[in-house]
Amino acid sequence: MTFSAVDVITTKRDGGRLSDDQIDWVIGAYTAGDVAHEQMAALAMAVLLNGMDPDEIARWTQAMIDSGEVLALPDVGRPLVDKHSTGGVGDKITLPLAPLVAACGAAVPQLSGRGLGHTGGTLDKLESIPGWRASLSTEEIAAQLADIGAVICATTPTLAPADRKLYALRDVTGTVESIPLIASSIMSKKIAEGTGGLVLDVKVGSGAFMKSEDRARELAETMVRIGAAHGLATTALLTDMSVPLGRAVGNALEVAESVEVLRGGGPADVVELTVALAREMLALAGITDVDPAEVLASGAAYPVWERMIAAQGGDPSAPLPVASHVEPVVADRSGVLTRLDALAVGVAAWRLGAGRARKEDAVQAAAGVRLLVEPGEPVEAGQPLLELHTDTPGAVAGARAALADGVVVGDEPVARPTLLKDTIRP
Ligand code: URA
Repeated sequence: MTFSAVDVITTKRDGGRLSDDQIDWVIGAYTAGDVAHEQMAALAMAVLLNGMDPDEIARWTQAMIDSGEVLALPDVGRPLVDKHSTGGVGDKITLPLAPLVAACGAAVPQLSGRGLGHTGGTLDKLESIPGWRASLSTEEIAAQLADIGAVICATTPTLAPADRKLYALRDVTGTVESIPLIASSIMSKKIAEGTGGLVLDVKVGSGAFMKSEDRARELAETMVRIGAAHGLATTALLTDMSVPLGRAVGNALEVAESVEVLRGGGPADVVELTVALAREMLALAGITDVDPAEVLASGAAYPVWERMIAAQGGDPSAPLPVASHVEPVVADRSGVLTRLDALAVGVAAWRLGAGRARKEDAVQAAAGVRLLVEPGEPVEAGQPLLELHTDTPGAVAGARAALADGVVVGDEPVARPTLLKDTIRP
């Protein structure tokens, strides 16, 4: 069936409901190049302004899945379960989580992307490991899942190609923030990946997409509903992203911190969130007789990490890249660290070279920020609070400017915000 793109746009512009056929047609025709970018941009804006109901969102998601191929993974002998984070500063959780869940008996097919803006991408982090390769064929993914139980690799070009095109368009047309469009974008890729269960980490706070808890909850509920409509068991955790996760922000710095966690140490918040997500993933996989907290603390997930990295050409024992230039940010007075803002730290790391402004940009493996003090800790005037790492010292001034209002020493003690805010189930 063929429609007029203008009729589809005006239906949504005027607050109407798109029919299943209109949705199937417009996504298919846009993917094929028969609906122009400017028409899809107008439709995305109409969706941002007027929303979509749950049935429209479910159909939109299905049309995006149908724009490409569903990854045909054979039985790998373990239940498949995956996780997705909406992205945050210092969010390296996938790195310890995938080997941990594999060490507990499930298989994790984590198809990931690269970072854009102030939140880092999982592939960028892993590419700081000498030799590590992001691109795998479907056969390699299946073999690694059967053998090791964990794969973190680049998404394949045939998976939801409509999303790749639409996301790039939304990025330049002010239409990223629509909850129906974010939810269908994330869920179409995860459903097409063929996982049996999915745990979502929906971040809320200054360093997250969703700045308010209400919006984060709405996004989480929308994605859990899409999962249910597509027969994918989905649970969402709402978690804090007003302060960075852990003490390392930046690609190689985050790999090093993840290795500490996998060896049974590491910062308490990274351990807490890794274990909370692992528990939900194992519950969806039907594995109830293993305690992920014990497995992580014992270091038993570390050999799985070594095998996972080596299977993709990486050398897990090779030294990680180190920045040529490191300088501290010091306390301007004595008192208590009262503010360590996630967005400020994320932008600083990005300006130091850890992130990219455009898709084509390269990232510096060693750039980033190390956090030396936690909110609420007492500090002395002149004490280093953070370390800035970069290979381009000219970037330091921009990083310091980003941190100006984001790192504050005051008088009143503050409590760190609660990390795990809520769990949303179908
Ligand atoms: N991540 C996605 O994959 N899609 C969005 O729309 C937003 C974040």
